[in-house]
Amino acid sequence: MPRKQVTVERREDMAVNIFCIGDVVGKPGRGILADHLHEYIREHDIDLVVCNAENAAGGSGLTPQIFNKLLHYGVDVVTLGDHALRRKEVFAPLTESDRLIRPANLSGGAVGRGWTVVETKSGAARVGVVCLLGQMYMNSVPNSDSPWKVIDDVFGLMPADVGIRVVDFHAEASSEKIAMGWHLNGRASMVFGTHTHIPTADARVLDGGTAHISDAGMTGPYDGVLGRKKERVLQFLTTSMPTRFDVADNDVRISGLLASVDAETGKAISAEHVQIFGRSEDAEPQARNAKADSTQPPGDTEG
Ligand SMILES: [Fe+2]
Ligand SMILES: [Fe+2]
Repeated sequence: MPRKQVTVERREDMAVNIFCIGDVVGKPGRGILADHLHEYIREHDIDLVVCNAENAAGGSGLTPQIFNKLLHYGVDVVTLGDHALRRKEVFAPLTESDRLIRPANLSGGAVGRGWTVVETKSGAARVGVVCLLGQMYMNSVPNSDSPWKVIDDVFGLMPADVGIRVVDFHAEASSEKIAMGWHLNGRASMVFGTHTHIPTADARVLDGGTAHISDAGMTGPYDGVLGRKKERVLQFLTTSMPTRFDVADNDVRISGLLASVDAETGKAISAEHVQIFGRSEDAEPQARNAKADSTQPPGDTEG
């Protein structure tokens, strides 16, 4: 019988539950968080939610309005990726808010911060959160520094009493993402990969006490290609003719890594890849939007 790598049953007294959500794509991704995240936080006693939102606005980038909505939906810290600076509007919250971080290894000239320290929802623990960009097959962002050196520098700067450290490693190559897990094994509580939008089946606690997954997967519509309408992508791939890659609509899921972390040692106790499927009406954007319009904050009219 295969060895079971994932333990989800244990709940230590001093444990905090941290949920790290993979790339939120457009309105469907935001909609399912609006519909289900609060309930999930309540049911699973989640102490902190970290969420990569680099594709939250129309499939690329983030706006201040959407950032605030994500906080309202239950997210505590928003991370970004290679699309971090796609929209100028996000520069203001990147500068002002300690709940929004861009990759720490962007050029030193980039706006915003690459890491932050926040309290858990109950105030019981302080958690350092860092975002990093990978280097392999990531050609879209110029002047990003070595993530290997930058993360060592960031951990050196982080206050010593911050015992829980969470890293979003936004990278393409699974080899680089697994390597980052081992690089931070025993030094980070959680290392979750983002960017590929495809969840990997390798959630585990590394032997040093680091919860790791190579990619947490996308929070958005799976009835498409990485969150975009499959018809458009196929049209492009089969004809070579440029077309707009609109965000898809259906089979919307939240995808992330759930870990329980010992607040005293900072070591992870368990790691589980989680997918939360939308209700049937999530397949009908009109219906969901009508519902969202009747609640506060009011309907999400952005793309
Ligand atoms: Fe990305
Ligand atoms: Fe992405």
